[in-house]
Amino acid sequence: MQRRIWIKQLSSAALYYNPIVKYASLFSGDDALNKKMFGKDFAWGVSTAAAQIEGAATEYGKGKSIWDEFSSHKGKIKTDESPEKACDFYHSYKTDIALIKQLGFTNFRFSISWPRIFPDGYGYMNQNGIDFYNNVIDTCLELGITPWVTLYHWDLPQALQNKGGWINREILLWFSEYVHICANKFGDRVKNWMVLNEPLAFTSLGYLLGIHAPGMKGFKHFFSAVHHAALCQSLGGQILRNNVEDANVGTTFSCAPIYAYNENNKHNEAVKRYDAFVNRLFLEPSLGLGYPIHDLPVLKHLEKCYKSNDENKLAFDFDFIGIQNYTRYVVRDNIFIPYLHGLQVPPKKLGNDTTDMKWEVYPDGLYKIVKQFSAYKGIKKIMITENGAAFHDGLDNGLIHDNQRVNYFKEYLAQVLKAKNEGINVDGYFVWSLLDNFEWAEGYRPRFGLVYVDFNTQQRILKDSALWFKDFLK
Ligand code: BGC
Repeated sequence: MQRRIWIKQLSSAALYYNPIVKYASLFSGDDALNKKMFGKDFAWGVSTAAAQIEGAATEYGKGKSIWDEFSSHKGKIKTDESPEKACDFYHSYKTDIALIKQLGFTNFRFSISWPRIFPDGYGYMNQNGIDFYNNVIDTCLELGITPWVTLYHWDLPQALQNKGGWINREILLWFSEYVHICANKFGDRVKNWMVLNEPLAFTSLGYLLGIHAPGMKGFKHFFSAVHHAALCQSLGGQILRNNVEDANVGTTFSCAPIYAYNENNKHNEAVKRYDAFVNRLFLEPSLGLGYPIHDLPVLKHLEKCYKSNDENKLAFDFDFIGIQNYTRYVVRDNIFIPYLHGLQVPPKKLGNDTTDMKWEVYPDGLYKIVKQFSAYKGIKKIMITENGAAFHDGLDNGLIHDNQRVNYFKEYLAQVLKAKNEGINVDGYFVWSLLDNFEWAEGYRPRFGLVYVDFNTQQRILKDSALWFKDFLK
């Protein structure tokens, strides 16, 4: 008897301490999900962004970006950190891309740093920058990984910000030159393109609320930044289509389904206003539907930014739309909030788990937003270009047992599958993100990676979530 108890204790202790056994438990049980269910053409990938991973921010001829400048001011980044070194992807791209391959992903989404190509925003071109992205692209192709390139993931050249950045209409010219160069230099090998990353996020956080670079505030700035970004969205699409043979042209949107606090009609009205702002502001003009002014009348001010014929320049028939979803919003009517007249219910009050970003874990939300987007006639194809979660990752004998993240992926992927099984044209899923990285105004604290990064040594450690994907993608 004594011995039996002893053996039982020993084996449960071994189960607890033996990382291999513990990790194996991630795969046990009724893991209903498998890769085959998504179909053989479904694209599996990881997503990243230049400013968040590259480092070498002031080297090899790169110009300053608005994030280099913003982070140099005390208090702008919560931890007073900067993107200067980040994950040093600039020097470790070969081994990092090999990691992508090792995990079984066959698609890599990364962005091009505009100030690495044009240090002054336009004019003089930095050949080192061109060479770097050529090397990244060629490494991907040698390893059988398809590159997916985002043209603008928030790192505007500071030289352009000094002239007003997104609030200066000349951005159409600057952006056009930048897109032409990228299309001409890389378009022979890169076929999958995204014009902008989450235009609502960079215009609202950077030009309305001032909590992201360049730190500008106010509705006037916001409306001109929105209108110019919406014009660049379609302009960029057109340039890619005209200059890249067989291009698959998309753009990406941050989006979150909006739920009413309860069935009271006034909350439902707040839902409409939020939805117009959060989900429809950039999508609908791209589809030729104009800005959603009817449901959020303050957007009428956007028309003040119009120059002749602008209303006809906002649409572009993208080959795919990138959905980037992490959570949902629950809102209630509140007359004190300007224009939106609604307030988000704090996620921690909703009774579900929250992530390190204090975002509610709500897998059904991904299904709901995919369904909402797929109802638009003009959307040909949906790709999930970002989904993932930041959780506290503790090192445990050199390993990271990020079970919460594993569960997050399992639950969100089940919702993608549900949408797919209903016949919705969703054709790919990209994890945010490959590596822990520079999480903008939050600094390096929130860790979104499948791969843990020790920012002092640049050592990479595969988290259990990376190993889970490796097994899933086998
Ligand atoms: C952005 C990423 C960001 C992630 C997590 C997305 O909004 O595209 O750059 O790191 O969300 O916040």
